[in-house]
Amino acid sequence: MSSQSPRKILVTSALPYANGSIHLGHLVEYIQTDIWVRFQKMQGNECHYVCADDTHGTPIMLRAEKEGITPEQLIARVWQEHYDDFAAFHVQFDNYGSTNSAENKQCAQDIYRTLKASGLIEVRSIEQYYDPVKNMFLPDRFIKGECPKCHAKDQYGDNCEACGAAYAPTDLINPFSAVSGAKPELRNSDHYFFKLSADTCQQFLREWTRSGALQAEAANKMQEWLGAEDENKLSDWDISRDAPYFGFEIPDAPGKYFYVWLDAPVGYMGSFKQLCAKNTLTPSPSPGGRGEQELPLPLGEGWGEGTPLNFDDYWKQGSDTELYHFIGKDILYFHALFWPAMLQHAGFRTPTKLFAHGWLTVNGTKMSKSRGTFITARSYVDHIKNTEYLRYYYAAKLNGSMEDLDLNLEDFVAKVNSDLIGKYVNIASRASGFITKHFDGTIQSLADEKFQILINETRGRVAEAYEARDYAKAVREIMSLADHINADFDSSKPWEKAKKLDDAGAKELLHIICSKALHGFKAMSLMLFPVLPKTARAGLGLFRAGNNPQWHDIGLSLEQKINTYAHLMTRLDPELIKAMVAANQESLKPAPESHSPTRHAEAQQHQPSPLAPLPPAGEGNMIAPIAETISIDDFSKIDLRVAHIVNAEHVEGAEKLLKLTLDIGEEKPRTVFAGIKSAYDPEKLKGRMTVMVANLAPRKMKFGMSEGMVLAASGETPGLFVLSPDDGAMPGMRIK
Ligand code: MSP
Ligand code: ZN
Repeated sequence: MSSQSPRKILVTSALPYANGSIHLGHLVEYIQTDIWVRFQKMQGNECHYVCADDTHGTPIMLRAEKEGITPEQLIARVWQEHYDDFAAFHVQFDNYGSTNSAENKQCAQDIYRTLKASGLIEVRSIEQYYDPVKNMFLPDRFIKGECPKCHAKDQYGDNCEACGAAYAPTDLINPFSAVSGAKPELRNSDHYFFKLSADTCQQFLREWTRSGALQAEAANKMQEWLGAEDENKLSDWDISRDAPYFGFEIPDAPGKYFYVWLDAPVGYMGSFKQLCAKNTLTPSPSPGGRGEQELPLPLGEGWGEGTPLNFDDYWKQGSDTELYHFIGKDILYFHALFWPAMLQHAGFRTPTKLFAHGWLTVNGTKMSKSRGTFITARSYVDHIKNTEYLRYYYAAKLNGSMEDLDLNLEDFVAKVNSDLIGKYVNIASRASGFITKHFDGTIQSLADEKFQILINETRGRVAEAYEARDYAKAVREIMSLADHINADFDSSKPWEKAKKLDDAGAKELLHIICSKALHGFKAMSLMLFPVLPKTARAGLGLFRAGNNPQWHDIGLSLEQKINTYAHLMTRLDPELIKAMVAANQESLKPAPESHSPTRHAEAQQHQPSPLAPLPPAGEGNMIAPIAETISIDDFSKIDLRVAHIVNAEHVEGAEKLLKLTLDIGEEKPRTVFAGIKSAYDPEKLKGRMTVMVANLAPRKMKFGMSEGMVLAASGETPGLFVLSPDDGAMPGMRIK
């Protein structure tokens, strides 16, 4: 493809609040970003993806207090949950940090000092509600009272959920503190403001709006906020909060803290700084910055391992690198006004582009707890396991606009099964059998020139669509290639040719048909890689392709030997969806929904987790005695690996055994006979991941050689339970 030098790109997603679980709404953003980043890396560009937890503010402080822990403990716990959720959905950050990091503090304070030195910070006394019992100033969302307009009771301090009116907290009738219930008092306090109304900010933002950094819809919004050329509609931005507050103290202003939205976007810089420090890309397990969790996703080709990554290259004013922020439309105001104005006036570069997206709805309406459609990432993983179904569905619907995106659960099942199983996986499973059986596992080079052209043209259109974040178009293009391949395969009737193998002409035709289908499948796998990193990689395994799929590999259609086909993906069972929705409904406490705060506010509340606590291992729960103590050296003699169950079948004449074919990333899969027949239907095991002992001496059994052992749990009560790793683990990973 192109021989230009690789682009240098820094990509971010919005930093999720550390006071709630990741849910399917969030994932619209993180999956969308991850697809784009993977595409850029495949293109050979030097692309870095950073994110972090957004950890500061009053709600987090109060929640920690309620739980009887420190805010630091709370955010460490949530960090791990978020990190694991993203890993399960194959969202692969190059660094996942925290806004409560030393790097971020440094960046935020530096920016503040520069803005202050440029005369853009002003101190003003403001009057605000104060809780005399709790001894703290109250954010709007922590003040409640009667709506001044419709007189609905129990409304928040900024707007009424009954009539929609917006107002100031001082307008509320009979206000009370949502923290202590006390009647709040008006008190004065000095606040720090960023002077967004200054001419230099206005002028800069007008220019920036026209620079192409915004989608058309977002640019229109900006025009609205900025007003006409001769207007000055922007007001100064209050960036300080009084103690007690969980955040960073403002330099030379004791008792004053940066408002959470000041240091949140700076978190993009803080997280990137950690990545620069890691430099060599080796994972480091400390919270507040962590490396890769699955197979390292290589950077583009022009990017040698260990090349130092320089903070200033990406952030200093005049940088020729690219910077993209993926965000939801609800936080456009912060990213399109405050953030660029801050950067510009503190000597940094501004974003190349903001990519704003719309809101997730489920079955046509807002996610709802009472309908069971407020689904957390964890709950999805627990019920559906395969997270690539959702990645595919979102990709099929995302088009780079700010429109909302609907997850229609029925359509979800239908689309995944018809496209991924019926069209994509189907090609490989049908064509590879003939090749393995009759042609010694070798496919011919592609002779069909027209088909070669079709692949090349599709590749170009798909690349354009990915680049433009029109994944829906990319997916349509790829699926239309699948339709072509399947139709061609069917009309050539390979199964008839396979019956006449002593006819050399028929045999040759069969070879041509299947080779062509598999070349098509390989091209599809490469094109789907950004969306389905795990399955596409497994599909490419058929061709013994390396771990570093590159875009320019698409269309290489030479003769080659292939591996035997390994089961790639199971149909999505609609019953799983039903169970997931039911479980999310069950987890509901009978609390009235109407008073739950809206997402935006300072007062975000924790979503009750649908995960029930584990039953205690107490009385009536007898366990077998614990075996003799061993040393870590003893343990490390056992080589445990993640294994993909490629095939599972009954063994004729065996009462207890199933024959498993296990892929642990070696050249040839292993055969293991496992005594789990009483507990498992082999069909249900196919495609699953499990854990095996990989260095157990092979054992000759009546039915053949067993080359290892899979692990299963059992106890006094009936049942046998094969282990599985969390989603994201890859065949061959070592378990330690
Ligand atoms: N902490 C801020 C962002 C700070 S960025 C410097 C925040 N956090 S959030 O957890 O509420 O949201 C994180 C991202 O997820 C935001 O871009 C938000 O728009 C997105 N989404 C949260 N819920 C969503 C849906 N229901 N649908 C689509 N995107 C959603 O905002
Ligand atoms: Zn009202």
